Amino acid sequence: MTRTMMVTGASKGIGASTVEKFFYGDNDVDTIVLVARESKEFDKLQERLSSDNPHGKKIVPFTVDLADRAKIVGFLHEAMALAGKIDILVNNAGYTAPCAIQQIDFGDFERTMQVNVYAPFTIVQELLQQGNRFDLIVNIASTAGMGGRPGWLTYGASKAAMINMSEAMKAELAIFDTRVVCISPGRCATDLRRTLAPDEDPSTIMQPEHVAGVIDMLASEVGPYIDSQNLVVRQ
Ligand SMILES: NC(=O)c1ccc[n+]([C@@H]2O[C@H](COP(=O)([O-])OP(=O)(O)OC[C@H]3O[C@@H](n4cnc5c(N)ncnc54)[C@H](OP(=O)(O)O)[C@@H]3O)[C@@H](O)[C@H]2O)c1
Repeated sequence: MTRTMMVTGASKGIGASTVEKFFYGDNDVDTIVLVARESKEFDKLQERLSSDNPHGKKIVPFTVDLADRAKIVGFLHEAMALAGKIDILVNNAGYTAPCAIQQIDFGDFERTMQVNVYAPFTIVQELLQQGNRFDLIVNIASTAGMGGRPGWLTYGASKAAMINMSEAMKAELAIFDTRVVCISPGRCATDLRRTLAPDEDPSTIMQPEHVAGVIDMLASEVGPYIDSQNLVVRQ
């Protein structure tokens, strides 16, 4: 039996590394649904995968703004028609614009919640309503959701919500034999991290492929033996 996976935030960073890990790995995943907005990075990733496909896997790319709930619902119908099912879902896309409390624009707080909380919820709810039964859902939160930091109020609040939402999903979806794992990475060398810590040298911190390796392990035959409410992945 082969499995189908969906990765949001697939254009770069942890999402792109996860896609490459599963695409080039000799595993049972034969179809990967990629989700991000339109960008040169997303185009380049798709070109790379199309030109070097050693295991003959299928790529199904979607350009979607995950802040737009109606668009999410629309693309999921198309994704199910093309992919048939989603066994492994990696809710990875994330957004942040760090800001002092006095300067936070409420619209930006809403956008943070839309991308980081409402989008992963909508994807899970909509696919369940379409009859999809997941094998594994990996929700990417953050250590920022486990403790508040100056300037990170909107981001931290969204990630705390992701951690709690994952616990509810884990408890509620066990009836379908769906495993739900929340991963909270620490600092990892990506564009998002650069937004949070512009002066940091990215070569000194965890790399995206390290987080991808943990997701790969969760989807492997040892995955069911890793039982965690919130798996912290950091140096
Ligand atoms: N890097 C860290 O230190 C760190 C630590 C803890 C947790 N995380 C979490 O890890 C996840 C991946 O982030 P990353 O560090 O790999 O950052 P990244 O390289 O900046 O990637 C973020 C991804 O999210 C996508 N995204 C953002 N807004 C979107 C929107 N409105 N619609 C669709 N896609 C959108 C981006 O796609 P576009 O091409 O559309 O922009 C991109 O693929 C996030 O949830 C982040 O919060 C990161």
